[in-house]
Amino acid sequence: MSFIETRRNPDDPAAFKATFGRFATGVSIVTCHPEGEGPMGVTINSMTSVSLDPALALFCLDEGAKSLPHFLRAGHFALNILAEDQADLSNRFAGNHALGDDVPTETWDSGAPVLRSALSVADCVLLDTYGGGDHVILLGRVVRVGYREDAAPLLYYGGGYGKLAP
Ligand SMILES: Cc1cc2nc3c(=O)[nH]c(=O)nc-3n(C[C@H](O)[C@H](O)[C@H](O)COP(=O)(O)O)c2cc1C
Repeated sequence: MSFIETRRNPDDPAAFKATFGRFATGVSIVTCHPEGEGPMGVTINSMTSVSLDPALALFCLDEGAKSLPHFLRAGHFALNILAEDQADLSNRFAGNHALGDDVPTETWDSGAPVLRSALSVADCVLLDTYGGGDHVILLGRVVRVGYREDAAPLLYYGGGYGKLAP
């Protein structure tokens, strides 16, 4: 079947999701710890690196997300990229954003909680926000990065999880 035959209206949410769902991504838990509040994490796959010099990264959060004001108050975030055995964390932080003691964390430069079990981490200071339709784009200055070399990524594709083929 050609692209012509499958052309769809982008304002149809199902066609939009099916189209962009064919872009395989990783999964991240984006975390923050606003002053005087508890630490929290939200599952996202809308992150990307933006710039090398200066080091910048962004993610997009639903403008109606309960967690959004917390990220704005915190002024920082950490992008914790998940390893292939961490689908449980992805599911958990899509629903409940409280970051408890059962998920070991440490603090690097920005003040955001860094998941010790993550595959890699970009620790960021919130630089700016931009309107993006029904989402908000949060741009961060990356102030510290780290990664493991002994694990593979969790993948997200077509609304489901996957792993790299061996
Ligand atoms: C794999 C995966 C990726 C997600 N990516 C995003 C995302 O990029 N942006 C977003 O706003 N929500 C994303 N979500 C949904 C959020 O995790 C969360 O459920 C939603 O923002 C509701 O948040 P709230 O409880 O703060 O209102 C994703 C969920 C899953 C399971």
